[in-house]
Amino acid sequence: KFINDDGVSQECENLISSLPSEKNFTGIKLYNYQGSWYYPNTVQAILNFQKHFRAQDTDIILASLPKSGTTWLKALAFAVVHRNKYAPNLVSHPLLSDNPHNLVQFLEADLYVKNQRPDLEELPTPRLFATHMPFQTIHESLRDSPCKVVYVCRNIKDVLVSHWHFRNKLVRKDLHSNYSLDDTVDEYIKGAYAFGPFQDQVLSYWKESLVNPTHVLFMRYEEMVEKPEAQVMRLADFLGCSFTEEEKQSGTVEKILELCSIGNLSNLEANKSGTSSCGIAHQAFFRKGGVGDWKNHLTDDMARKLDEMVEKKLEGSGLKF
Ligand code: A3P
Repeated sequence: KFINDDGVSQECENLISSLPSEKNFTGIKLYNYQGSWYYPNTVQAILNFQKHFRAQDTDIILASLPKSGTTWLKALAFAVVHRNKYAPNLVSHPLLSDNPHNLVQFLEADLYVKNQRPDLEELPTPRLFATHMPFQTIHESLRDSPCKVVYVCRNIKDVLVSHWHFRNKLVRKDLHSNYSLDDTVDEYIKGAYAFGPFQDQVLSYWKESLVNPTHVLFMRYEEMVEKPEAQVMRLADFLGCSFTEEEKQSGTVEKILELCSIGNLSNLEANKSGTSSCGIAHQAFFRKGGVGDWKNHLTDDMARKLDEMVEKKLEGSGLKF
């Protein structure tokens, strides 16, 4: 039997036994499925997803690696898409009373987890989902659908530092452990961590965004921090719900940004307490935000190794960090 094997079927167990595996530094095994590393229960959830999920034309899928700005993107996309139903304000909006991860659920970590087969057909459209899977793993289920995929990426060094903090403060007892920064850097260099390697996943969405720009939008956390208004308008344009002149004049973009800001969200009672459906305390999704915190943690040598590894993989792709 595997560790983290809740709800793993015989079929999945057989598959897993044939996959390449690596132990992480705490001794837990991860398995490589279609180019990414996963714990067994995630492999099971992905198989369920691949078998049962069929995209609808109006679907919106928010994709990212953990710690790349997923929570922010979920909040923004929800607020943008539903702005006619829920006016963006700081008085009564679903984002004021619920965590973004409950409003936009993960395909593999929430909906298809533990061999579940959710009935998603009747959900109101547009359906908003999220995933940490790489493009090649969701591709087949989206084939022939003009649905929209939004990918957000962030510099690997900030992702790593954010991930390290996150794992050490995870309010989920079974996963809690003291991860050293050295171990985390080694893990990122090796690539065998959940949904990694970073550079492979980023490239999978980058390439597809070039080939099929109406299907995949490639966003960067750093650009969202630097020019939030422009990036939110870009998101709305891509999703086919551009802001009207009247909305721009009346400050709707700014209201959405204020509602979804880390300052606002992290201070809400709904995010200071409670846990998401995958068992993680809501507050663990909010820390500092911003760009460049890695400088306070990584040595020059660590930073150089990570940069070189990413540059090597992205060489010739047109994508730079
Ligand atoms: P830091 O740990 O660097 O602060 P994810 O949502 O993919 O798990 O990423 C978490 C990172 O995004 C954390 O980064 C977190 O603080 C930051 N974050 C969460 N909500 C945010 C928001 N509304 N705006 C900007 N950054 C946010």
